[in-house]
Amino acid sequence: MELPRSLLVFSAFAMIDLHFHCLPGIDDGPDDWDESVALCRHAAAEGTTTIVATPHVLREGWLNEDPRERDELLLKLNTLLGGRPAVLPGCEYFFSADAVELWEEGAAGPLAGLNRTAYLLVEFPGSSVPRSAGDVIHELAVIGVTPVIAHPERNLQLVREPELLESLVRKGAVTQITASSLVGEFGRAALAAAGDFFRRGLVHVVASDAHNLDRRPPRLAAARERVRRDWGEEVEQLLFDVNPRAIIAGTPVRSA
Ligand SMILES: [Fe+2]
Repeated sequence: MELPRSLLVFSAFAMIDLHFHCLPGIDDGPDDWDESVALCRHAAAEGTTTIVATPHVLREGWLNEDPRERDELLLKLNTLLGGRPAVLPGCEYFFSADAVELWEEGAAGPLAGLNRTAYLLVEFPGSSVPRSAGDVIHELAVIGVTPVIAHPERNLQLVREPELLESLVRKGAVTQITASSLVGEFGRAALAAAGDFFRRGLVHVVASDAHNLDRRPPRLAAARERVRRDWGEEVEQLLFDVNPRAIIAGTPVRSA
């Protein structure tokens, strides 16, 4: 799809949110256009300049297999927002053993799709990691696609077995920690797990996974502040600026 060139221009103070449910009526994000616009404007008021719209794809109840429907909603949202913030196309892909075929058909991704970037946001079921995950991540890496594992700190198996996350990262995945987890809003276990992943060098980006203003607001600015305080400015820049830009551009990221 064609998006205005202006959406590609990031200011020196850009803040990019790579995981955001902002398209109305398509998943468990906003119900209507008013809510959608209010949620995006709230993020802009916190300093977010670019959002990647990541509706659920292939999740039970929200299959959203047709990218054209997502694109139509995205164009209308950008028109309503007038570029503040800019909203780029993406998806949050529910893990499937046939991820490679779906990617090649164009249904699965990409995370940020201006030029079909080489990153795919993938969510696992909440309590476990499918046995085929390692093999599928390897297969995606072989065809040049880097899976971004969404919110590993909220996956019960990865919380219990951080070595499993380590092995998935070794096979080629990168990770996205949820902003709200870093400020304690997903509970102590998620906060502790996120800290553990930081110490193990397993964190690549922080994004909001925002859904609505009342229960799942963006919180990206608060998380950024917390990361700067706990891990320093260099890590903050990497996770909120350098790596998100690299993902959108389809270039390699570094771990914190
Ligand atoms: Fe999400």
